[in-house]
Amino acid sequence: MSTINYSEKIPNNVNLGEDRTLQRALEGWQPNFIHWWDDVGPEGSTNHEVYLRTAVSVDPQGWAQFGHVKMRDYRWGIFLNPGDAERKIHFGDSLGEKAWQDVPGEHRANLRRIIVTQGDTEPASVEQQRHLGLTAPSMYDLRNLFQINVEEGRHLWAMVYLLHKHFGRDGREEAEALLQRTSGDQDNPRILGAFNEKTPDWLAFFMFTYFTDRDGKFQLSALAESAFDPLARTTKFMLTEEAHHMFVGESGVSRVLSRTAAVMNELKTDDAAKVRAAGAIDLGTIQRYLNFHYSVTIDLFGADQSSNAAIFYSSGLKGRYEEGKRSDDHQLKGQTYKVLEVVNGQLQEKEVPMLNALNEVLRDDFIKDSVAGVNRWNKVLEKAGIPTRLTVPHKAFNRQIGALAGIKMSPEGRVVSENEWNAKKAEWLPTPEDFAFVASLMGRVVDPGKFAGWIAPPVMGINRQPVDFEYVRFG
Ligand SMILES: [Fe+2]
Ligand SMILES: [Fe+2]
Repeated sequence: MSTINYSEKIPNNVNLGEDRTLQRALEGWQPNFIHWWDDVGPEGSTNHEVYLRTAVSVDPQGWAQFGHVKMRDYRWGIFLNPGDAERKIHFGDSLGEKAWQDVPGEHRANLRRIIVTQGDTEPASVEQQRHLGLTAPSMYDLRNLFQINVEEGRHLWAMVYLLHKHFGRDGREEAEALLQRTSGDQDNPRILGAFNEKTPDWLAFFMFTYFTDRDGKFQLSALAESAFDPLARTTKFMLTEEAHHMFVGESGVSRVLSRTAAVMNELKTDDAAKVRAAGAIDLGTIQRYLNFHYSVTIDLFGADQSSNAAIFYSSGLKGRYEEGKRSDDHQLKGQTYKVLEVVNGQLQEKEVPMLNALNEVLRDDFIKDSVAGVNRWNKVLEKAGIPTRLTVPHKAFNRQIGALAGIKMSPEGRVVSENEWNAKKAEWLPTPEDFAFVASLMGRVVDPGKFAGWIAPPVMGINRQPVDFEYVRFG
C-alpha cells in the first residue's frame, strides 16, 4: 500500500503517480531525507511557519507559489523543464545525433559521477548554514535563508530523482550516501572542498551565496547543455531557483556596504577601528571575506588541465556555459586555450589544448560574471562618496587545486616569498580576530521590520510584500 499521495505531497511533472519503481525508491529515501533535515537542517526551526515560495509546476503561475509553511512540510517537488522530442546533441563527438532519454552504457559511470558530485553540494550548503537562523539580522533575512535551504533540499531531490530513475541499484546507493556524508566531517566529508568550509556568520553567508551559489549557476548551466536530456531539463529548472540565491548574496553584501558607508560618512572616518566601534563592518574585513570566498569558490571548477573535462565534453555529458550561443565548431579539436603556470617563481601563460582546459574556460566565464556584481557593489561606495573599491583577487591567489595550488601569491597577482605571505596574510584573508569581530555583531533581530545595526534594510520585500511583513511566524 502506498503511503504517499504523490501529486499532493510531491509536486512533479515526471509522472510519479504512475511510476511504481520510482515510488518505491522514493518511499525508501524520503523518510531518511526528513531525518537528515531534522538532524542537520536549519537549527531550531521545526515549528516556524515561513513565507516560502514553492514550485508546484514549471509554468509561470506554478513555479513560484507563496505561502506560510513549516519547512518540514515543504513540498519538495521533482520538475524537469518541458522537453523537445526532437532535441539534438549540439556539441562533442555525437553532435547532430538525437539527445539521449536514457543513459548510454558507455557513459554511465561518468554521468553518475557528475550527478553525484552536483547532488552532494546541495545538502552540504544546508549543513553549512544550519546555525545561521539563530543570528539572523532580520525576519526578512531569516526568511531568505530558509528559502535557500528548502530549495537546496529540492535540488538534492532533483539529483536523487535522476539517480533513482536512471541508475538502478547503484543509483539508490548513491542517493543514500548523499544523506550520509556531512559537511566538514572528519571521516565522511562532502566531496568538494568549499562545501566543507564553515559558513560561520551572515557576512560569510552573503559571500557564499554570491560566489559559491554562482559556481552552482555555472555548473548547472554546463549540465543544462548535456546530451542526457533528463539532466539538461532538470538543471534548467534548478537555474530558475539559483537566481534568487545569488540575489540574496549580492543584495546582502550591498546592504552591508551601504550601512558601512553610512557609518563612515557619519563619523567622517575610514579608520577600521572606529567603524567597528560604531557597530559596522569595516571595508578591510569585507575585502578579506571576499578574497577568501572567491578563491575557495574558483577552486570548485577543478584543475586547469583535466582529461576528464575533455572526456565529459567530447562525449556530450557536460557542455560549456551558453554552448548554444557560441559560434565555433562545438568540438574544439585542435583549438587551444591559455592557462597559467609558474616557471622559476614567475607566472606564465601557456597554450594548451582547449578540450583539456574546459575547467579553466568555465572558471573564466564565472570570473567575468562575478566581477560584474563586484562592480555593482562598488557603485554603492561610489554613490556614498567613499573612495575605497572592492576588487576580486588574482585567480592564482590562495588556490588549493590545479597547477596554481600552493603558490604564494598576493591578491594583485605577484608571486611572494613564504616570509612575505606570512607577514601579509592577515591583510589578505580573514583573521581569527575578523571572525571574532563579525561574530560579535551577530545577534538575533527578528521583530518584523527591524534590522541589525550592521546592515541596511532591503529596498523592497519579497513577492511585493512590505519589508516589515511577518515573513516568519514563530511556533
Ligand atoms: Fe542548489
Ligand atoms: Fe543555490
